[in-house]
Amino acid sequence: MRFHVLTLFPAMFGSYLGEGILARAQDREVVSVNLHDIRDYTHDRHRTVDDYPYGGGPGMVMKPAPLFEAVEAIRASGELGESSPVIMLTPQGRTFTQAVAEELSYHDEIALICGRYEGVDERVALHLSTDSISIGDYVLGGGELAAMVIIEAVSRLLPGVMGSAESPANDSFTTGLLQHPIYTRPETFRDWDVPEILLSGHHAEIARWQRRESLRRTYLNRPDLLDSLTEGELTEEDLRFLRELSELS
Ligand code: ADE
Repeated sequence: MRFHVLTLFPAMFGSYLGEGILARAQDREVVSVNLHDIRDYTHDRHRTVDDYPYGGGPGMVMKPAPLFEAVEAIRASGELGESSPVIMLTPQGRTFTQAVAEELSYHDEIALICGRYEGVDERVALHLSTDSISIGDYVLGGGELAAMVIIEAVSRLLPGVMGSAESPANDSFTTGLLQHPIYTRPETFRDWDVPEILLSGHHAEIARWQRRESLRRTYLNRPDLLDSLTEGELTEEDLRFLRELSELS
């Protein structure tokens, strides 16, 4: 998969993309990230990318022309298909979730536009981008961190990026529940023991404990996720356990 990132700060991406699973994914040529400096698509001496808002108000607005020219140049290079997503990163977008990551993972090429300042001229949303995404209900200084979040979450889902032992199938959210607690050696650390069940070797009992702990965590930290599970995703035993939890609290 090829990501094109349009940003005023391409240098922000280097160290993050150069380490860990993203470095591995790029080495294996499963993922490539092309950084495009929006200023390279300006034509004035000051390489101007922003201007005052019509109608007044605080801050500056990103001009449409450099963004249109950047996307058109990338398309003309043949590295971004006509129907590939062009995604604006903005707090006004739809919320990024694991399901959205999965949806994006089926594309060969994606362009990510990182906004800055007060925002981006609306004609970009109306006539250039095909989608707009927010990574959460908070405001960042720009879309760069959001682009990195999306690149990482999508890349992890591509075949050949994670080893089979670290398969994303059991990740929090893939199952609709938060992941259960996990432990490693030593068995006792500062008087705190690993739960005995995990040392028992009883695979069915361990799976049952893990399922309950997933349910407990989800119930305590993200009850909204339980509400959005569809019929059939919770067993009779799950429902019984959740009733016990609600009676305790
Ligand atoms: N730019 C600024 N805040 C953002 C957010 N929450 N998500 C995506 N892009 C952003």
